[in-house]
Amino acid sequence: MQAEATAPGKAILFGEHSVVYRGPAIVLAVDKKGKVIAEKRDNDNRIYFDALDLGFSGYFDGDKYTSITGADWRGERLVAFMIAAKKTMENFDIESGLNIKIRSDIPIAAGLGSSAALSVATVGAVGELFGGLSKEEICNIAYEGEKVVHGNPSGIDNNISTYGGVLVYEKGKELQRVKLGEDFPFIIGDSKRKRSTKKLVRRVRDLRDRQPELIDGIIDNIARISVQGLEALKDGDFRTLGDLMNVNHGLLSALGVSIAKLDTMVHASRGSGAYGAKLTGAGGGGCMMAIADAQNIRSIEKAIWRCRSIPHVVNIAHEGVQIRRIE
Ligand code: PMV
Repeated sequence: MQAEATAPGKAILFGEHSVVYRGPAIVLAVDKKGKVIAEKRDNDNRIYFDALDLGFSGYFDGDKYTSITGADWRGERLVAFMIAAKKTMENFDIESGLNIKIRSDIPIAAGLGSSAALSVATVGAVGELFGGLSKEEICNIAYEGEKVVHGNPSGIDNNISTYGGVLVYEKGKELQRVKLGEDFPFIIGDSKRKRSTKKLVRRVRDLRDRQPELIDGIIDNIARISVQGLEALKDGDFRTLGDLMNVNHGLLSALGVSIAKLDTMVHASRGSGAYGAKLTGAGGGGCMMAIADAQNIRSIEKAIWRCRSIPHVVNIAHEGVQIRRIE
């Protein structure tokens, strides 16, 4: 038997960076997905990974990675999923070998939660092989795995990939799930510049250490935008959402986390009819997002291509992780 699980990636609509200090972040599940197909191996306890879409495959014997295709260092990308698979089996008190196939249409290291989506899908698929897990269990086990690899993640990414929809995250508070009446399409533009969330968070912290009053003022304003943005989202008020996104982008630039290419993409989108556009995630590269009426989406896509970047027209993914058995 094989089991297949898919899980969506995410985009932060409002509250990146401010959420590290205070106030909420509004996070959307997007219908770009990570997919994992898992099956048991009968003869050994090795965990084989086929990530051939990304150009590599190999296996873990214990913690040691041996490459079959691609460079050895690429195995590092797989450690999180190996740990997720092992923690899932531990949950059932089972040790077994596995064959795991990984496929994803979520851009990597772009702030769209590809790692968490694949961790969640790994736990979902491997769990299904041994009797099945609830969403809560999947979310918790995936978080355990993410912690081992990524230090102390906020928990946004594994939650949004597990449950889908829209989440409000605020430090020290329970995650809040938001129900939306209507769908709204938006456009994500991938600058194709890889970046490190950790470095950008540190950069903002250093700036705040040097200019505490100034930066705290900006953080307060971003936090205020998140609160207002949530209401605009619930009301389907695109014009207000657009205004808030535009102001938010300006404030993120003021924190020093935008780059010229993201600014160009943001301005090109606005110039092609978007209600609003901003960078999404940590910045420094990665992605921007825009919202617009359906009739303007094509021209915004073209504008993003002209910036030598990749547009993705996406919708909110209302479903989180989805699992099926393949007999
Ligand atoms: O780069 P991403 O999309 O994972 O976003 C990071 C969001 C930050 O607010 C910059 C950091 C954090 O941990 O909240």
